[in-house]
Amino acid sequence: MEKFILGISGASGINLGLRFLKNLPNNLQVYVVFSQNAQQVLLKEMHQNTIQEVKQTLNLTNNITFLDNADIGANIASGSFGADKMAIIPTSMNTLAKIACGIANCLLSRAASVMIKESRPLLLAPRELPLSSIALENMLKLSRCNTIIAPPILGYYADIKNLEQMEDFLIGKWFDCLKIPHSLYRRWQ
Ligand SMILES: Cc1cc2nc3c(=O)[nH]c(=O)nc-3n(C[C@H](O)[C@H](O)[C@H](O)COP(=O)(O)O)c2cc1C
Repeated sequence: MEKFILGISGASGINLGLRFLKNLPNNLQVYVVFSQNAQQVLLKEMHQNTIQEVKQTLNLTNNITFLDNADIGANIASGSFGADKMAIIPTSMNTLAKIACGIANCLLSRAASVMIKESRPLLLAPRELPLSSIALENMLKLSRCNTIIAPPILGYYADIKNLEQMEDFLIGKWFDCLKIPHSLYRRWQ
């Protein structure tokens, strides 16, 4: 079974990460890690206090493991575990900067560093507005390491009627980047 890591960091748009998780196909073994600060955004934006509450709300399948960001010895911290793909949705500027500098002081940034060193697909969805030169430089640096930089940028060409459809469009675009089959948005014909 393919091993997929989903990181959720403390940028706005936690719901995008949660809906991405909910839409992942069942044939993946999924590992989820929230940054400490993502839990604060979770409270602000989703009015959910704990990851336990998230699990109940999403009604998830069995092949999803939630890992503790402080557990630097967890399986996904090692290249030998062999994770196949990783995404961080949303990616805060802090997490982006840490990954760009090779800082691996928590499970989330360590797992991302491992994906880069092992040359495996890593998708980042940086969320900030406007973007500073520092953030843009970090993105360019990571793009040159073959990281997929895919911010949540709106698209209006897929006959979108509401926010949920816009979120499906974004999640579908991220699935496209990671070669995960889906029918989340109507493709241009
Ligand atoms: C409600 C809320 C929304 C936030 N939105 C963003 C954001 O969109 N982008 C960002 O880079 N930081 C945002 N932040 C700030 C980050 O949470 C903060 O920089 C934090 O240190 C990121 O930590 P992490 O990268 O470990 O998750 C937000 C914070 C809060 C409380």
